[in-house]
Amino acid sequence: MPGIIVVGAQWGDEGKGKATDQLGGDVDVVVKFNGGNNAGHTVVIGDEKYALHLLPAGILSPTATPVLGSGVVIDPEALFEEIDAMESRGIDCSRLVISANAHVIPPYNRLVDRAVEKALGAGQIGTTGRGIGPTYADKASRIGIRIQDLLDEEILRARVTRAVREKQETLGAYGLEEEIDAEQITQQLLEYGKRIEPMIVDASLLVNQALDANKKVLFEAGQAVMLDLDHGTYPYVTSSSTTAGGALTGVGVGPTKIDRVIGVAKAYTTRVGEGPYPTELFGDEAEHLRELGGEYGVTTGRPRRVGWADAVVLRYATRINGLTDIVLTKLDVLDSYETLPVAVGYEVDGKVTREMPVLQSEFAVAKPVYQDLPGWQEDITGVRKYEDLPEAARNYIEFLEAQAGCHISAIGVGQDREATIVRHPLI
Ligand code: IMP
Repeated sequence: MPGIIVVGAQWGDEGKGKATDQLGGDVDVVVKFNGGNNAGHTVVIGDEKYALHLLPAGILSPTATPVLGSGVVIDPEALFEEIDAMESRGIDCSRLVISANAHVIPPYNRLVDRAVEKALGAGQIGTTGRGIGPTYADKASRIGIRIQDLLDEEILRARVTRAVREKQETLGAYGLEEEIDAEQITQQLLEYGKRIEPMIVDASLLVNQALDANKKVLFEAGQAVMLDLDHGTYPYVTSSSTTAGGALTGVGVGPTKIDRVIGVAKAYTTRVGEGPYPTELFGDEAEHLRELGGEYGVTTGRPRRVGWADAVVLRYATRINGLTDIVLTKLDVLDSYETLPVAVGYEVDGKVTREMPVLQSEFAVAKPVYQDLPGWQEDITGVRKYEDLPEAARNYIEFLEAQAGCHISAIGVGQDREATIVRHPLI
């Protein structure tokens, strides 16, 4: 069972970090395939809490090789900050390797990200402001800077100079007259390059060789299906391929190498940033669930939007990713509820649909059709065996499973690494 993809099955922040960290103990390579330091994983080990942004969760496993694939965008400053912070806490990052083809987030793209958001006003996406979107746009426009470019002064200077010409115009159009100094950026990136050089590899070759040697490789997604550039709630999405297909292109492996695709979903839903969200709660109800779940962004600290479980989204995640398993996280957060509504369809213009509406304009006005399930109203954080869960909790899980059309193989019942119930082994 060597190739395993882990993706987000909702809007991100599902607890992929904990899931991949747990699997990471049993795998040889953990490769992140998309996104950058917009992501935020929290992993709790004993009394220690680790917030990861750019680094793959596999960094916390002492045996796995952590890899940043070519589909990732890397802000070198953020990378070093995170490595230094980890190493100061005794986490060895020397095994980290980076694809030569991954793109660099140059400092001007943070400026562009924020300038564009500001100009959008009420229509803003609510990005993390890390320069992610502009960097993927540069990649597609072929004015991007790749990790390998940091090793060649001439190539780097030419690329930075070319990009800065455009960026200066873009920023000017948004009323930012700040002068971008191409030479200073070139020198700064060259310095970063010296530190990054020993980490640079052909990540596709490394991963394929590991798979061919029957080693276990975990492909770790940033963000989630509803934020996917192609399949999410465009334009309220991130700028990368967050789904199983993105794992293949973002690393350079073929679909025949993948054995399992695991979707991570919360027992309820959350979303950060703007965009449609049919099961969203508001007011006191939202505040209550947010507090119970501790729903504040790891990367930005923003309070997350919160809502009931949405089976339409889970069904969609199963289809788009070809999920073989779901890991359901944070079930314990729902311990105190008497009734748990689950959206099983949407009403759009008087018609009920079980599938994701075709048009974004329909999704934006979709009203959830709820089925109310009884809550269990007891503390499940100490439960480690499926049979020991209260009947109502098992019913809730099995209902979601039937609705999603995919096995729920593991269930999170607390923050700690150990607080997981495994129904079907994932590896
Ligand atoms: P960007 O990725 O910074 O361009 O932001 C685009 C959208 O994706 C915004 O709505 C962000 O809040 C959202 N987003 C980006 N990364 C994450 C994440 O790790 N978790 C949840 N939402 C995210």
